[in-house]
Amino acid sequence: MDAKLVLEGKEFEFPVLVGTENEVGIDFTKLRPRTGAIGLDPGFGNTGSCRSTITFINGEKGILRYRGYPIEEVAEAATFEEVCYLLIFGHLPTRGELETFSDQLTHHSMIHESLKKFFDDFPPTAHPMMILSAMVASLSAFYTRAGETEDVDLNIIRLLAKAKTIAAYSFKRSVGQPFVYPRNDLSYTENFLHMLFAVPAEPYNVSPVMDRVLNLLLILHADHEQNCSTATVRVVGSSQANLFAAVSAGIAALWGPLHGGANQRVIEMLGMIRDDGKDYKKYVGKAKDKDDDFRLMGFGHRVYKNFDPRATILKKAADELLGELGIDDPLLEIAKHLEEIALEDEYFLERKLYPNVDFYSGILYRAMGLPTDMYTVMFALGRLPGWIAQWKEMREDPRARISRPRQIYTGEAQRPYVPLDLRVESRSTEPELVKV
Ligand code: ACO
Repeated sequence: MDAKLVLEGKEFEFPVLVGTENEVGIDFTKLRPRTGAIGLDPGFGNTGSCRSTITFINGEKGILRYRGYPIEEVAEAATFEEVCYLLIFGHLPTRGELETFSDQLTHHSMIHESLKKFFDDFPPTAHPMMILSAMVASLSAFYTRAGETEDVDLNIIRLLAKAKTIAAYSFKRSVGQPFVYPRNDLSYTENFLHMLFAVPAEPYNVSPVMDRVLNLLLILHADHEQNCSTATVRVVGSSQANLFAAVSAGIAALWGPLHGGANQRVIEMLGMIRDDGKDYKKYVGKAKDKDDDFRLMGFGHRVYKNFDPRATILKKAADELLGELGIDDPLLEIAKHLEEIALEDEYFLERKLYPNVDFYSGILYRAMGLPTDMYTVMFALGRLPGWIAQWKEMREDPRARISRPRQIYTGEAQRPYVPLDLRVESRSTEPELVKV
């Protein structure tokens, strides 16, 4: 099958690719060499940047699958360690493979004592996402063969194992408690909960409910094909920058409120609605008003145009967790009510805006006892296997090239340089005086 393009009266044919699930792509790899034109697609809403075997999404039908397995089944039965293995190595691990993998993840959990000292000098107000990104980039100072092929698998283990320790340490630092070292007798998620919530003076037993919910949260965030942060990891990795550098950039991309940072903003928004007398109409009105920057955080998605299956699972999990922990969180009721109102409103229906993964996740993190600025860190920890799997796939893809988009230039045409003496002042160069 070919696609025909007519440009200035001349006809060009381009090959059409069809994916496993019949999604259709026109291969424009040779568009510019053959036609002289480029494709212009700000935000890449129509651009496929790679072929991938990792994650499938059908946004119209609300389908998400990891390596072919439906998210609902994976979320119900798997552990996060299994999902990491599945995404990174392409198949579900056997018992033996899982044991070896879990053992490696445990035994690489500690971070270098020198890296631990880095935490000391960040200002107390430093956002933990900033700390996570900086610390992950710093791992390449400790593992200098980070770009070497023979060390790739070891560095993947190191990154997965140490990121949770870094995340837990940044939380401990923010609450002014001493760091708690990882334990080798605990699973990945148990170890993380232990490092987050244990205090040296008291014994700490990991609650099975918390462990189950943490597994669920991490699994639901584990991969989501070519989203903003994953695309960033691939772009940075395409220059052959090492794994730690590429993932550190992905963490920075995830931090933004339009992406993973939305989970923190959702809770802040729900709190604002509560404090403002639950004036839902006002906030829905603000979200619809084009002159107002306010958006319903946790609503809308570039790909999902029906429902986000992760949000459906998390809404149910929020009810269960709060019930089991005996927590009555008014923000959960506010979230549900807001969802109901928005989903009856023509504005949201027309634009196919539904709750996304970030809408209910914050309620769960809150019930677990985490402060709002840790929510996106939790997302990052969940997304790690996805970033790693995508980075590895790109590295192993013989078709992969350095990411280098083009542009349509709309600035000034050529003009002669004007020497400084001849330039006309267009605005005052007087510095503004500051009154003390
Ligand atoms: N509240 C109000 N209006 C919205 C919202 C929202 N949350 N989201 C989209 N819209 C409107 C836009 O104003 C636009 O309206 P228009 O057609 O009248 O101009 C229309 O819906 C389409 O929105 P776009 O911004 O063009 O959609 P895009 O695919 O570029 O953006 C995004 C998707 C960033 C997720 C957007 O829906 C948004 O800002 N949501 C809130 C932030 C959020 O929850 N982010 C998390 C996303 S999930 C994740 O990254 C893990």
